[in-house]
Amino acid sequence: MRQLIFPLFISIVLTGLGTFPSVKNGLAVGVNDIVAGSIADTTANLASEAKQLIASNDCRACHTMQTRAIGPAYKAIAEKYKDDRSASERLANKIIMGGKGVWGESSMSAHPGLSIPEATLIVNYILSLSADKDSAN
Ligand code: HEC
Repeated sequence: MRQLIFPLFISIVLTGLGTFPSVKNGLAVGVNDIVAGSIADTTANLASEAKQLIASNDCRACHTMQTRAIGPAYKAIAEKYKDDRSASERLANKIIMGGKGVWGESSMSAHPGLSIPEATLIVNYILSLSADKDSAN
């Protein structure tokens, strides 16, 4: 009996060892893909929400993506604050309150109708823009 059970035990262990890494790798790839996929989806959703907010406010009257108008281009804003970790909160407040003096003497009007989370969403989108991205303004 022992002579039978022992090889059986060994072969089960070997089979287990043999399949385990591939199962594990398979799972790891699957989970990573799902996580990466949902992060990409979330980022895309946030960007499109931000674009809708920009479109439904008056931002376009003074800002464009690439070139300075009454206000600075979004890409210039992204460039200016790319290493500034506190920028997002400050800029969100500035959009709501309005202001001038950082880019020149023209003023940005106040946007009291925007909530802090909405303004932050817009700012994070603007700050995510880099020279090679060409999304619509
Ligand atoms: C009446 C014109 C006008 C409108 C409308 C406007 N802006 Fe501005 N915006 C400006 C000007 C001018 C500046 C530069 C202000 C300064 O020099 O401090 C500016 C600056 C900014 C900045 C950078 C602020 C800083 O301190 O660097 C952001 C971000 C911004 N605007 C986003 C927006 C968004 C989003 C909207 C729409 C909700 C909007 N703006 C609407 C004129 C405008």
